[in-house]
Amino acid sequence: MANTGKVTVVGAGFYGSTTAQRLAEYDIFETVVLTDILEGKPEGIALDINQSRPIEGFETTVVGVGGGSYEGTEGSDVVVITAGLPRKPGMSRMDLLETNAKIVRGVTESIARTSPDAVLVVVSNPLDEMTALAQLASGFPKQRVLGQAGMLDSARFVNNIAEVLQVPVRSVSCLTLGSHGETMVPVPSRCTVDGAPLTDRLSVEQIDELVTRTRNGGAEVVALLKTGSAYYAPSAAAARMVRNIAEDTGAELPVCAWVDGEYGISGVYLGVVASVGAGGVKQVVEVPLTDSELAGLREAAEAVRAKQADIANL
Ligand code: LAC
Repeated sequence: MANTGKVTVVGAGFYGSTTAQRLAEYDIFETVVLTDILEGKPEGIALDINQSRPIEGFETTVVGVGGGSYEGTEGSDVVVITAGLPRKPGMSRMDLLETNAKIVRGVTESIARTSPDAVLVVVSNPLDEMTALAQLASGFPKQRVLGQAGMLDSARFVNNIAEVLQVPVRSVSCLTLGSHGETMVPVPSRCTVDGAPLTDRLSVEQIDELVTRTRNGGAEVVALLKTGSAYYAPSAAAARMVRNIAEDTGAELPVCAWVDGEYGISGVYLGVVASVGAGGVKQVVEVPLTDSELAGLREAAEAVRAKQADIANL
């Protein structure tokens, strides 16, 4: 079957370029466009990825567009927004709020003009707030704007558990909800190892430690890298979201989505499980939670809500 469709990735930093690479290597899209304000960088990365095609055996063409231009992005089906600064060691994602708000707003306004029917996948930080801002700036229906974080945070939780138990990652199933930040809610009650509850294998103290490590998963990588933040796991999650949207799978994934009544929470972008496909979020799915997990999710909602009110003015 011939490859179809166009995905644009905005921002040719490590996150954007690895996302473009993964999307190209899926070999399902006709075109992946990579844009950046820098002249030459996206063009160079696109050429480099294209030169890997004979070796990796994929046909998707990557097009690099530099200088802040959006020429060539027109009519994209999905747009991944990675634009903005990453954290430095010691910074919280929230420290990026003002700087990244300006960048994300500008990018989103341009994208909304060139690709008015696209689904937007936001990955810029602070994630939940930038997703809300992208919806405001684009004026797109809320279902067509979603953020990437839950897949990444859940993957980190799985990896942490698999490492401690010395089991394959595929035998661990996990969920993380809430914000992509201080009020992240790893959900141990929804975690299993070979189908058995996590509590069969780990003590409450061990689980608490893994929850904390998961919550700090991004910062742990930032502290080691010293410049920039994580991109291999983040790009894997973003690309996988795009794939589910493009292939209209309806898969239930942890994502940042507009919540309107679920869990008794309304009017906020928040990390929840949602069915994802063509058109973005099809439905937010309520999963059973313990009382304390639900309280954590509500706390996250209020924290994000308070910040979301500020970003309208940034
Ligand atoms: C992280 C950044 C990308 O969690 O938010 O690694």
